[in-house]
Amino acid sequence: MIIHSIKTFNFRNLESSSLEFSPHANFISGLNGQGKTNLLEAIYWISALNGKKGTASDAYKYGERSFRISADITFEGIRHTVDLHVEGRSRKLTIDGSPPKRKRDYLRNVLVVDFFPEDLLILLMEPALRRRFLDIACTQFDLTHEEVLRRFKRTLEQRNSLLKNEEFIDPGVIDTFDRPLAELSAQITISRLILLENLGKRTDEIFREGIGEKYAAELSYLTSVDGIPSRADPETANQASTYNKIYYDLYSENRQRDFLAKRTTSGPHRDDFAMTLNGKTVRTFASRGEVRSAMFALHLARFHVLAEKRKIEPVVLIDDVMSELDHNRRQRVLELLPPGQVFLTSCDPPENLDSIVPGEIFHFEVDGGKVRSLD
Ligand SMILES: Nc1ncnc2c1ncn2[C@@H]1O[C@H](COP(=O)(O)OP(=O)(O)OP(=O)(O)O)[C@@H](O)[C@H]1O
Ligand SMILES: [Mg+2]
Repeated sequence: MIIHSIKTFNFRNLESSSLEFSPHANFISGLNGQGKTNLLEAIYWISALNGKKGTASDAYKYGERSFRISADITFEGIRHTVDLHVEGRSRKLTIDGSPPKRKRDYLRNVLVVDFFPEDLLILLMEPALRRRFLDIACTQFDLTHEEVLRRFKRTLEQRNSLLKNEEFIDPGVIDTFDRPLAELSAQITISRLILLENLGKRTDEIFREGIGEKYAAELSYLTSVDGIPSRADPETANQASTYNKIYYDLYSENRQRDFLAKRTTSGPHRDDFAMTLNGKTVRTFASRGEVRSAMFALHLARFHVLAEKRKIEPVVLIDDVMSELDHNRRQRVLELLPPGQVFLTSCDPPENLDSIVPGEIFHFEVDGGKVRSLD
């Protein structure tokens, strides 16, 4: 996948000029608050059909009620003109002038891996952020996962609203929710375990051999459910019926407790994952620079795992990853950038970029929402 050009209309503070990109590295520099992140966010919107930060209305230029992004993108080997118009809840997408039959078909062919500064919080803050990371990555890995998550969420909400009932609940009624919930829980858990296993190996390689960090990085699944492991093994993919039974027994046994708590107290919606360095949790152990290296390694691992699984080379968006890294780590991170199309922002352009990053590099400078090509 390659984004050849983009033009935004009423998108955040960006001026509407047409920008041509390199199929390799695109380096975007500028002072704080000029629009570097906004440009990456526009690329994210046209590729994922939703935003990174806030709601759609946060992305309308102040005082406007909609925005539009138009881009020339090659996917499935053909160059297309893609146009996205966002207004309220509506997202009108056209490809070469006509709406696609299903937006999902478009999402199947375009793929971004993004690393924004707020992603650092994933390893440092509450479990909900890590579950969100898992859900997005599992969906990118296998698009059918989105439907599994949607059904899980709906069934969980239905079970929870039943538990909020003040009156006695017929166990037969709650059982009609426990069965599908157990089946969906098993599917979600298997996807998460397999994803973490694939990411874990790559993350450690990149972290230690690529960036040159001294600790062994490991990813493990954190669950309080007895019988669900913290790491996948070669049999995990075939264990749907075993996990289904574990979850069904869990939900049945927890009915009384859940009724008192008025919610489903245990299940994949409460689970978490941890990254450890030499067995110690990143959150409480790692330095700022090591957290950045660890997150960079995790995102780059996601790129490689996705590229292999989906047979698409994702576009990579890296916002401001260089700050807080020392000279050697910066150099290593730049050397590790994947060979496909990359968009990279930083306040100061790194030195010797041309000798480190392969392919044609385009340089841009953003000033007050105006993006200028420096080449
Ligand atoms: N909806 C909007 N309409 C107009 N301007 C906006 C909108 N949303 C954000 N901005 C402005 O866009 C400006 C640029 O934001 P952006 O996050 O892209 O800066 P940046 O160049 O990435 O800066 P930094 O180096 O600090 O990360 C900010 O000053 C912000 O106030
Ligand atoms: Mg920024």
